[in-house]
Amino acid sequence: MSRLHLFSRVVQLRSLSTSQSRLGHAVNLDTLPQKSRDIIKRERLVTCNNYSALPAVLCAGKGVFLYDVDGNKYYDYLSGYSSVNQGHCHPKIIDALVKQVTVLHHTSRAFHSDLLVEYAEFLTDLFKYDAMLPMNTGVEAAESAVKIARKWGYKVKKIPTNKAKIIFCENNFWGRSIAAVSASTDPTAYENYGPFVPGFVNIPYDDIESLEKELQDENVCAFMAEPIQGEAGVVVPSDGYLTKVRELCTKHNVLFIADEIQTGLGRTGRRLAVDHENVRPDIIVLGKALSGGVYPISAVLADRHIMDVVEPGTHGSTYGGNPLAAKVAIAALKVLENERLAENAEKMGKILRQGLSELDKDIVLAYRGKGLLNAIVINNERIDAFDLCLKLKENGLLSKPTHDNILRLAPPLIITEEQINESLEIIRNTLKEIK
Ligand SMILES: Cc1ncc(COP(=O)(O)O)c(C=O)c1O
Repeated sequence: MSRLHLFSRVVQLRSLSTSQSRLGHAVNLDTLPQKSRDIIKRERLVTCNNYSALPAVLCAGKGVFLYDVDGNKYYDYLSGYSSVNQGHCHPKIIDALVKQVTVLHHTSRAFHSDLLVEYAEFLTDLFKYDAMLPMNTGVEAAESAVKIARKWGYKVKKIPTNKAKIIFCENNFWGRSIAAVSASTDPTAYENYGPFVPGFVNIPYDDIESLEKELQDENVCAFMAEPIQGEAGVVVPSDGYLTKVRELCTKHNVLFIADEIQTGLGRTGRRLAVDHENVRPDIIVLGKALSGGVYPISAVLADRHIMDVVEPGTHGSTYGGNPLAAKVAIAALKVLENERLAENAEKMGKILRQGLSELDKDIVLAYRGKGLLNAIVINNERIDAFDLCLKLKENGLLSKPTHDNILRLAPPLIITEEQINESLEIIRNTLKEIK
């Protein structure tokens, strides 16, 4: 670094006392312990300001707990946006990662490996689909599902070239690529990123009439939705919605793509959230907890007659399906199954929601969720969700708002009843302080 560059960075560091996020949340850095403050200031200068992070500088995690550089311990009620379902540093997943990394970590799919097949057999047997497509991040898998659906539309449904349409729901969230923000109805996600991908239609979530209306168009190849909208604020659709979606998609020869990246893998109290209604989508998209949060791993599941529209060379990923990912995903899935984490999420979710239902109704206007994907709606006249998160942090619980007035509560699925009760106590005490 040149002297001039170093000097200007020191000057900038000194002048930073407030971290102002894109969404306007101001954090007074001067109130933080020195270690955290210094790290946040340094990070602010050299990274893109694309997150409005809570001022917790974490350096370790174990089970349901996170630890910061100043020695504080927190309950993790975000779970890495639902990727750490199995808990931080789960010994079985870490062991698989460490052992495999010293043997073979990456080859690319220019060659075969002895582990991709093992992983694919395990995943397809577990979820009862013929085939899988391995990818890395959630957005890549969701976009792969969109590409497969379009290709199926042209090759199988015989939609005229470039006319295929995909229906999404308002307030959907499936990532940050140009395709994903093209499907978004949230200005924060799409503004100034246009022009957008054509052929995407939005309808209200949990609205069967609107879906039926859009399905009259013969150029529709797919309907893609989250079984519970996560980033939208944990929006749970009416009972029977997914069943009706399935029926309508079948009737109109349209693929039903379930984005289970956040809701899948035990999070809502079932292996998949669609299992609450025993619905079988044509395509399932998984990510996040497929690695237990130790590594970006995602996958698309479908039957052969759909997956086979993709020919060699027409889609791919340098890292997708590498031996390390394969080993980690198998270990992460085995933990979910062997430790019966979906069942635990179902049980603990009920206890958590019971506690949430008894919170001060002046501040907590509503609560909702399934399993351990939950949210509370905050009375903004009393406090906004970000400020509540700051206060919860001071009392030892980390979470993050999904909107100004919605707070997501989604701990790792290994959480115990005692820990749920202790977390509820933290929430109750924090609300009392606000009063
Ligand atoms: C439902 C859903 N789909 C897709 C994604 C995108 O996943 P990733 O951030 O790994 O690309 C997310 C991320 O939050 C999500 O919640």
